[in-house]
Amino acid sequence: SLVAAREALDRLIRDVPDFPEPGVVFKDITPVLADHAGLAAVVAGLAEAGRDEQGRSVVDTVVGMEARGFILGAPVALALGAGFVPVRKAGKLPRETHAVSYDLEYGSATLELHTDAVRAGSRVLLVDDVLATGGTARATVELVERCGATVVGVAVLMDLAFLPWRDALGEVAVTTLLSVG
Ligand code: PRP
Repeated sequence: SLVAAREALDRLIRDVPDFPEPGVVFKDITPVLADHAGLAAVVAGLAEAGRDEQGRSVVDTVVGMEARGFILGAPVALALGAGFVPVRKAGKLPRETHAVSYDLEYGSATLELHTDAVRAGSRVLLVDDVLATGGTARATVELVERCGATVVGVAVLMDLAFLPWRDALGEVAVTTLLSVG
């Protein structure tokens, strides 16, 4: 349940002051992954974003974003009876890709998706660990839509409530297990 997932996150996420730079408190999720009950609760909680009111999966494919979205996205895909597809940083995927670039605080980043990885008309759930600015998720929505597929939602373990990810994602449904800030 969502309650069990939130309890696990409250118990297991570790605050790391001054990482990766002074003044930033890093939220380390690795203790959640290392704990079987915590990992199971989080995966089940994220998978709820891909189910209807009867608990049936409404998802054909789960897309996870490099790198922590891979860890969470693959077990969520299995829980939903779906396949898993990676969105990767530029230059990592070997075949023809769609590419979307977006602005970072300094410079820009590019994400890629194999053009044949997501079928036109299919229903896709995006999974990642954190929503911050929403730039990564926004770019991934664009990549999935370029394949002619529909994003049914974005599911994340944690969002940073003081950052403008909601504005970046427009009408896309967002499920977040924990808001911090
Ligand atoms: C982090 C995080 C999300 C993204 C969120 O990944 O895992 O993917 O940033 O930030 P945003 O909402 O501002 O786009 P990062 O780019 O650090 O990549 P990594 O997981 O490969 O370290």
